Amino acid sequence: MTVMRSVVLGYGSYLPERIMTNAELAAKVDTSDEWIVQRTGIRQRHIAATGEFTSHLGTHAALAALANAKVEAHTIDLIVLATSTPDNTFPATAVQIQSALGIHHGAAFDVQAVCTGFIFALATADNFLKSGAFKRALVIGAETFSRILDWQDRGTCVLFGDGAGAVVLEAQPQPGTNKDRGILTTHLRSDGRHKDKLFVDGGPSSTQTVGHLRMEGREVFKHAVGMITDVIEDAFKATGTTADDIDWLVPHQANKRIIDASAKKLNIAPQKVVLTVDLHGNTSAASIPLALAVAAGDGRIKKNDLVMLEAMGGGFTWGSALLRW
Ligand code: UT7
Repeated sequence: MTVMRSVVLGYGSYLPERIMTNAELAAKVDTSDEWIVQRTGIRQRHIAATGEFTSHLGTHAALAALANAKVEAHTIDLIVLATSTPDNTFPATAVQIQSALGIHHGAAFDVQAVCTGFIFALATADNFLKSGAFKRALVIGAETFSRILDWQDRGTCVLFGDGAGAVVLEAQPQPGTNKDRGILTTHLRSDGRHKDKLFVDGGPSSTQTVGHLRMEGREVFKHAVGMITDVIEDAFKATGTTADDIDWLVPHQANKRIIDASAKKLNIAPQKVVLTVDLHGNTSAASIPLALAVAAGDGRIKKNDLVMLEAMGGGFTWGSALLRW
């Protein structure tokens, strides 16, 4: 039976020029390169320049994805941007990007699910494309977390970085099996009982300030592996696939220890795991499309490969997406 699938036509990414090393951080707060590498796997992160906003990062990534897909901006009728660090409280940063791309039709909006944002955005776009409401979508993850960090708090400021990644999706008819190209299944979860474990202590309605990121790292860590493996198993069940069928696991890049433990629990071989946390740090909603762009760009992810995406973050939110490239 023919079904509509959201097929990836192209990918792109953008990282701000400025790189901040662990050594540089160790000169500012009581930390060390050794501690950061051992506990997280992070060696460096990129930091947006003064005057460089989330929309600028997102626009660069979108342009790269359009070029890679070899499609014109005006053929896009849906833009879904995942971000927790918008340029302004409103309008949505997605409309800034839409305007910068010269697109004046269709719809553009933001989704906010913190580090799981890209999975939520991908699932949203996928459902609109499958329903026939839109034909071609840009799904973007873009963040400037450096703007909401407390640079005195060593427990959080060493973890995050700035960046953006994007994919172009197109609705295409496929035979309707797990051998189809495109997004095969998505699984989204939230549990607000954990909202105080990873949050920003400001906002327009509560404090009228932007606020800073606060995290009980150990508490987040404790829940991460179980939540990630649950939604990956949901994706396997929904598609009749197993860990052996996966060509690549492209996880949210928060901590190498969380990624290693999740892959181990699921029996996914380490050589199938795409790791960029060492170079990018945790870029929240941007981390998965950034990692996709690295692994597709260096030739690891190839057409027809089966790719599992997963993320977990503030809310808590967590989710997975299984797609054939
Ligand atoms: O992307 C959204 C989801 N977020 C995450 O997935 C983050 C999840 N959490 C983590 O990745 C880890 O919990 C951290 C990397 C944040 C922390 O690693 P940990 O192994 O859980 O360390 P900890 O918080 O238990 O702290 C161990 C020690 C503490 O000292 P004491 O109490 O043992 O004396 C901390 O004060 O390490 C200390 N510490 C640091 N030391 C040097 C905390 N941050 C630092 C630091 N440098 N930057």
